[in-house]
Amino acid sequence: MFSTGGPYASRIANLTWFLIALSSVVFVAVVATLWIAARRRRSADAHEIDQSDPGTKFVVIGGAILPAAVLLVVFIAAMSVTGVFPPRTRGDELAIKVTGYQWWWGIDYKDPDPQAEFSTANEMHIPVGRTVRVTLVSADVIHSFWVPQLQGKLDLIPGDTNEIRLFASKPGDYRGQCAEFCGAQHAHMAMHVIAEQPDAFREWIASQRRASAAPANTLAAQGEQAFVTGSCAMCHTVRGTRAAGMIGPDLTHVGSRATIAAGTLPNTTENLEAWVANAPSLKPGTKMPALPQLSGSQVRALAEYLRSLR
Ligand code: CUA
Repeated sequence: MFSTGGPYASRIANLTWFLIALSSVVFVAVVATLWIAARRRRSADAHEIDQSDPGTKFVVIGGAILPAAVLLVVFIAAMSVTGVFPPRTRGDELAIKVTGYQWWWGIDYKDPDPQAEFSTANEMHIPVGRTVRVTLVSADVIHSFWVPQLQGKLDLIPGDTNEIRLFASKPGDYRGQCAEFCGAQHAHMAMHVIAEQPDAFREWIASQRRASAAPANTLAAQGEQAFVTGSCAMCHTVRGTRAAGMIGPDLTHVGSRATIAAGTLPNTTENLEAWVANAPSLKPGTKMPALPQLSGSQVRALAEYLRSLR
């Protein structure tokens, strides 16, 4: 969070440094006072302590006025930063809806033209230098959207809609993490926000809007067949095929993502095979069931097919 990628996160990082510095000063002052008091007690004979001044002034200033002043400063500093949550709306915003699921992120790119809208999962691309308005909803329990290098955290609450804004000043792969305990695999609920130059972003958008490509080889074609006729299609969508399930992540371009299972594993053929065959062994509690009915060659073909969905 201290290596910030944009102005919103920088404000929070600056506030954090300010609070660390201020509390360090207070801590040193308190410990120093304690130390002085302890030394005096030891060196002076108890009977010789001056009782004429009970130290009322010291207690009032040190125990009430000074702490009140410090807390007021902290309050004003914190409110001036959190008060701009979310920052004011500007004209040219990119609108993205993020849905929290146990335990992955659904990501919907909004567009005035419904034909241009599309869904993906766990990997959000945003353009550098443009405000992104992220609408946050939950499909099950409370999650929390946190991309520390770009913005503070905000909860996704069932039945409620929250809104947060992101702004990346420089390109980068910013890791995000669910920040509200949401069940057994809360720790395995990561996401990546990839900020890229506007040209690269436009290319990415164009590629994501396209339906999936036809399988390029026999193995991938067997995989597609197994996918659309088997149980995969009941939960997953691959645009361009008959698979239109809405329970799990949209897999139309799953091959283009760097990880699978919400940042749990690198997106390799081996990991896809393991995931397809027995997801609960890798992520206990996941809604993706083990599929012992699949033969080894079907698992191999499915992984080949998923890898080809670029
Ligand atoms: Cu979702 Cu923690």
